[in-house]
Amino acid sequence: MVSKRLRQARAYELEAEKRISPEDRPSFHLSPRCGWLNDPNGFSFYKGQYHLFYQYYPYNSQWGPMHWGHAVSTDLLHWTYLPCALAPDSGADIGGVFSGSGLVLPDGRHLLMYTGLDDELNKPDSDPYQVQCLAVGDGENYDKYMGNPVLSDTDTPEGSDPHDFRDPKIWRREDGTYRAVAVSRASDGTGQVLLFESPDAFSWKFKKVFLKNDGVYGLMWECPDFFTLDGKGVLLLSPMDMLPEGFEFHNGNGNVCMIGEFDDKEESFAPERAQAIDSGIDFYACQTMLAPDGRRIMIGWMQNPDGCSYRGDYKPWYGQMTIPRELFIKDGRLWQKPVRELEAIRSNPVSYEKIPVEGERLLSGIGGRRIDMTVKVRPMDPDHPYHKFILRFAMNEEFYTQLSFRYKENVLKLDRKFSGTRRAVINQRRCLIRQRNDELKLRVILDRCSVEVFINDGEQVMTALLYTDQEADQIMFYADGSAEIDVEKYDLTD
Ligand code: FRU
Repeated sequence: MVSKRLRQARAYELEAEKRISPEDRPSFHLSPRCGWLNDPNGFSFYKGQYHLFYQYYPYNSQWGPMHWGHAVSTDLLHWTYLPCALAPDSGADIGGVFSGSGLVLPDGRHLLMYTGLDDELNKPDSDPYQVQCLAVGDGENYDKYMGNPVLSDTDTPEGSDPHDFRDPKIWRREDGTYRAVAVSRASDGTGQVLLFESPDAFSWKFKKVFLKNDGVYGLMWECPDFFTLDGKGVLLLSPMDMLPEGFEFHNGNGNVCMIGEFDDKEESFAPERAQAIDSGIDFYACQTMLAPDGRRIMIGWMQNPDGCSYRGDYKPWYGQMTIPRELFIKDGRLWQKPVRELEAIRSNPVSYEKIPVEGERLLSGIGGRRIDMTVKVRPMDPDHPYHKFILRFAMNEEFYTQLSFRYKENVLKLDRKFSGTRRAVINQRRCLIRQRNDELKLRVILDRCSVEVFINDGEQVMTALLYTDQEADQIMFYADGSAEIDVEKYDLTD
């Protein structure tokens, strides 16, 4: 049954999307059909297509009562919008349909598990309780489950805050039963990941505290995701209010990946290591899915939540996803690569080898704002390495964004200070480069208003939004000292 609120949202988005020209959006990163987008939700493969839902407020390009927008794709790069999937229209989610996940049931139905803002459980205070709900559908229309909420404050450990209990990530175990992790605020005020179990994906109960924060990584946690990869347990989290540690976790509301041993029988996870998932400026609330070919694919909201107040020119949409990234574990760490489907939309290759760079250097055919470019940089003479190497892009006489690498310090800096921002938002991030022989390899993906840098084959990644006019499309190389570069550049086309 399509409720009045869902019907309204669907009618509104059909008209509103006509006011947005395709050139005014990223071309292969998902942006909202209209209005506002934040977290990726319900990322799954169903009936031959990837389904991606998103936190959505269609009526304004600001956060508002949350709906779920919906898009499908066969290559993870070209997305087709489907009608708004969920609206805040029933008892348990009347205040908003918050983040969640999806999977395919054995009977062929598509199941979505999400957080509802339950105004009825509002009790005497003002903030709604957060509860976990289900919806079942056919890939386009979803019915909210009559038994909602399936998990609420009575299913959480003593002292948990019922106002902060959200973002369920569901999966099916090999024995056919179901599990979900969700975050909650523990009695000490910081985050915890709770594990829930179900025999049939509909009746749920609390199993155990999967991991407690104890105030180590930020305060409250958001958007948990747990999976095994290359023999390790991997927990992805978006902690709020993080303190920086060395070069990592500078974004306030940031991201962390914990890697460790997962005991499948006990269902217990012992983290051994933690690292930033993305060392750039704009990355939050990521979610993964297992593709039919076995790849673990992650997508994130390409936004620093603290940076939403700065928008550049007004647009009738706001928010976009990162490029989907294939994950793998190497040397005990999480590595990422843009999905290999990207290679199919490359055109116009231009390449150079062993090009000397001393001072400024432009290269013919190297430019553009929708590109996939790999640059390898080495000292021209290993006995006299260059001091600093700079790669400037989205550049004209007025604007540029740059990556600069200090050879001796081994630090790569992303700086968008001159990208056209007119506010004192965060514009710089530094990343301490791990394990390098003499060569630094940077794969730079530009899509009109963003940059994603995959460092040394994806061992580290830096992501940022750009606010620069599209006419600024030049690329320049610079070395303080003598460097030598190889460049391979492709245009990325629709
Ligand atoms: C993360 C988040 C989630 C919540 C959703 C609401 O960005 O705060 O925890 O479910 O956004 O839009």
